[in-house]
Amino acid sequence: MPVREMTDADVPAAVSLHLAVLPMEFLSRFGERFLRTYYRAWRRAPGGLVLVAEVDGRVRGALLGATSPGVHTRAMVRQDGWRLARDLLIAMAGDRALARDLLVTRARRYAGGLYRLARRRSGPPVAAGPVVGEVTHVLVDTAAQGKGLGRALVEAAIAAGREAGDDALVLVTPPDLAAQHFYDRLGWRREGEMASRSGEVFLRYRYDLR
Ligand SMILES: CC(C)(COP(=O)(O)OP(=O)(O)OC[C@H]1O[C@@H](n2cnc3c(N)ncnc32)[C@H](O)[C@@H]1OP(=O)(O)O)[C@@H](O)C(=O)NCCC(=O)NCCS
Repeated sequence: MPVREMTDADVPAAVSLHLAVLPMEFLSRFGERFLRTYYRAWRRAPGGLVLVAEVDGRVRGALLGATSPGVHTRAMVRQDGWRLARDLLIAMAGDRALARDLLVTRARRYAGGLYRLARRRSGPPVAAGPVVGEVTHVLVDTAAQGKGLGRALVEAAIAAGREAGDDALVLVTPPDLAAQHFYDRLGWRREGEMASRSGEVFLRYRYDLR
């Protein structure tokens, strides 16, 4: 199955896929401009896991994650924090409901990141101990689902996590998405539930690499 690292040239196709496959997801509400900046920033930062699955030369699937989430998030904020903040503000200016939800659920966290960026500080040190990577998004074009692309993307992420020396990979998925059956099928272990800052409930999954 043709899975490879995402390039900058793949970003528009991956973002279109994101908006089409996960239109109800929080990030999708920020729109295409923000998502393109987000994907490019995610890709540029070290420690990321950014894959696409191609069929007949077209991007039909994508996976975002990080083998080293702490390192990756810091680098992403340091390198692209201002660009992300700019596009976030543009998205908020055009959507009052989004602006309100963001202020209620995430303003403090985002402001903290920007404050550290402005002070050129890198934030609290990454805790020593087991390295747990994460998968944040797996997307397969509706017309290409059920053909093994999702499995190929997740298996490539598992291989990359192993190569990077991770102890495990984790992910969360909403309980109402059929994706939970997909992760069950791929051998991920259900660890329980967690609530996000905005109160949504997610199922937590883990895949041990050692
Ligand atoms: C979930 C998703 C990534 C799966 O990708 P896919 O390419 O359709 O899945 P695959 O064809 O690789 O399936 C792999 C295995 O999981 C099983 N599976 C996939 N979706 C399933 C479902 N909804 N219910 C039960 N089993 C499922 C398949 O039967 C297959 O099993 P097998 O290999 O033993 O035959 C895809 O359906 C998708 O993009 N969904 C919408 C977005 C989403 O929910 N993403 C996850 C949260 S970010």
